[in-house]
Amino acid sequence: MTVPRILVFDSGLGGLTVYREFLGKMPDASYLYVADNAVFPYGDLRDEELVIRLLALFDVLIEREQPDLCVIACNTASTIALVPLREHFEVPFVGTVPAIKTAGEKTRSGLFSLLATPGTVKRRYTRDLVERFASHCHVTLVGAECLAELAEDFMRGKAIDRERLAHILKPAFIEHQGARTDIIVLGCTHYPLLIDEMRKVEPWPVSYIDPAPAIAKQGQVVLQRLFGENLNANEERAANRLIYTGNDGIVINIGDYLSNIGLHETSRDEIIG
Ligand code: DGL
Repeated sequence: MTVPRILVFDSGLGGLTVYREFLGKMPDASYLYVADNAVFPYGDLRDEELVIRLLALFDVLIEREQPDLCVIACNTASTIALVPLREHFEVPFVGTVPAIKTAGEKTRSGLFSLLATPGTVKRRYTRDLVERFASHCHVTLVGAECLAELAEDFMRGKAIDRERLAHILKPAFIEHQGARTDIIVLGCTHYPLLIDEMRKVEPWPVSYIDPAPAIAKQGQVVLQRLFGENLNANEERAANRLIYTGNDGIVINIGDYLSNIGLHETSRDEIIG
């Protein structure tokens, strides 16, 4: 019997939205959450810089932690680095990419928007998803400046500036020939942390697609393929941990939140120095 080791990775706290879903589906797995806070936000990094950094980080993390599954709980990283990561390492990687296909299937008005980091919005990967799965729709791509940072501040107890949030969201709400945007794809794992706040300032009600449940489902499928019947045994397992690069600010004021989702151990770890 095996307790699977799952490494969930993001630039910051956004990937916790994905970790929570994994935990709900596979509570008996052993989790390591890694936040590469030293260079947060990833949305501002150049593509090559990001790929080089991710390969270097995972070189150390895989060797040291021996995960059975790596989850890139970050759209900005997945849309550029998933292919090279899969090429370089044997361990399976599950990524997070914008849920364009789902939105294309679900929209009734034919108008939906992708809200993501500027990095994700400009990627070829994202544009290809729109061409492949939503060419029948009117898709608006919104590269939101600073929204991931706003989500992190909110997590640490800072009140949201509603006017600012409304201003960031406005370009995602489109009226065209009598139809209105009815779905917003949350293309950054930080954004589901702000859903309730978004609802307070949206010009009209829309559905928000949070990809986390689908990612956790995919992770479970991959692990079941690897371990078959031997998965999720109630065995002794190591405590779930969160490690982060950069400064300690990332964990300020969120101890209770982390404890509630089973992350009792947090520590700073330079990983690649
Ligand atoms: N959580 C990350 C994502 O899903 C991005 C935040 C950042 O820019 O670092 O894209």
